[in-house]
Amino acid sequence: RTLIRGRLLTFHREPQGPDDHTAHAYEEDGAVLVENGVIAAAGPHTSLAAAAKDAHTVDHRPHLLMPGFVDAHAHFPQMQVIASFGTELLDWLNTYTFPEEMRFADPAHAARIAGAFLDEMVRHGTTTAAVYCTVHPQSVDAFFAEAERRKMCMIAGKVMMDRNAPRGLTDTAQQSYDDAKALIARWRGRGRLHYAITPRFAITSTPQQMEMAQALASEHPDLHVQTHLSENRAEIALAKELFPDCADYTAIYERYGLTGPKSLFGHCIHLSDREADALSDSGSVAVFCPTSNLFLGSGLFDYQRYRRRNKPLRIATATDIGGGTNYSMLRTMDEGYKVIALNGEKLNPLAAFWQITRGNAEALSLERIGTLEPGSDADLVVLDARATPAMRLRMERANTLAEELFVLQTLGDDRAVVETYVAGQPMKRGL
Ligand code: GUN
Ligand code: FE
Repeated sequence: RTLIRGRLLTFHREPQGPDDHTAHAYEEDGAVLVENGVIAAAGPHTSLAAAAKDAHTVDHRPHLLMPGFVDAHAHFPQMQVIASFGTELLDWLNTYTFPEEMRFADPAHAARIAGAFLDEMVRHGTTTAAVYCTVHPQSVDAFFAEAERRKMCMIAGKVMMDRNAPRGLTDTAQQSYDDAKALIARWRGRGRLHYAITPRFAITSTPQQMEMAQALASEHPDLHVQTHLSENRAEIALAKELFPDCADYTAIYERYGLTGPKSLFGHCIHLSDREADALSDSGSVAVFCPTSNLFLGSGLFDYQRYRRRNKPLRIATATDIGGGTNYSMLRTMDEGYKVIALNGEKLNPLAAFWQITRGNAEALSLERIGTLEPGSDADLVVLDARATPAMRLRMERANTLAEELFVLQTLGDDRAVVETYVAGQPMKRGL
């Protein structure tokens, strides 16, 4: 048993505005009692210490202690694509990303990058992610093996793509189905791993492959589906050309039964009202990837329009490594704040920290993370808002918890992450 002590912060629900202080709980001297990787209790240190006298204590005060961050969309094979210059989406895929992903036919390369990716997640305080592998089943085996070794809760799947990509990076409709079935059989129920049906996007799947994705989704209704939707104008035009019978891009995924409460749609920049209604009605999740959308010049996610409409969308936030440019969910929310600000709204820091913890966990339908409720998994992050000289100086003028969080979001990165616990184990210290 371990007692992890710190300034405890947790969210029960989305804060409704900057003055809503009822959505979170904060303990200046708090603690989390961990037993076998699971949270046994969380609350004021004095009451927990009395109940757990034999527990080994780690004192992180004066740092903040909260649930680990959740990244709702990332590509582990793209670590060596980040900072590729000068292209927008379709050229970026063809010029940099597809050639890079071909390297993952080699299991040794896949294992090396999978390990490096998970270490980088830990370094940045992220304990769970929804991850794209490549078309090669061995890339999924490598990723899940490394995640299992670290006891991390990860969602991942083999990318299905059978056209508009180089040979060596395509499967066939039947092969993609068979590979997914074998991977599901091998990995389902192991550790804290979740398989996601992962057709890359409509452009790289034939109608036959979309039918296979549909078959997988109907045979395994409990699995996540992840794909890309409405990221860039040229992509939207090509998707409509390839599926002329569908009225719009979203209708392609609807046609093949791929919308729903466990469906994660990356980007969703240029949705019509009809498409937004379709996502909302089906309970699908729109994944906001600000650093990627800015870097590739894809457009501005219309957070206000999607949230303030009378059928609001479920929203998650994500790095989209390697279209995205930073592993940190703090950097991600900093850029997200600016995108939202361009539309005239200011996302309050309590809402931002809800989003990257409990909010993203709910968007991914994961119950045991993003919370400090007893019985949940002890995935935690310890944050220091005075990690750098600039942050220290700024903190001299910060008086409230919300201001401290905003300093972390605006100036923070991996240097602000003092420790990351996965299932109760400190993981960052050893890296
Ligand atoms: N659309 C299809 N594949 C990708 C990808 O790898 N990254 C991004 N950002 N968009 C995509
Ligand atoms: Fe992506």
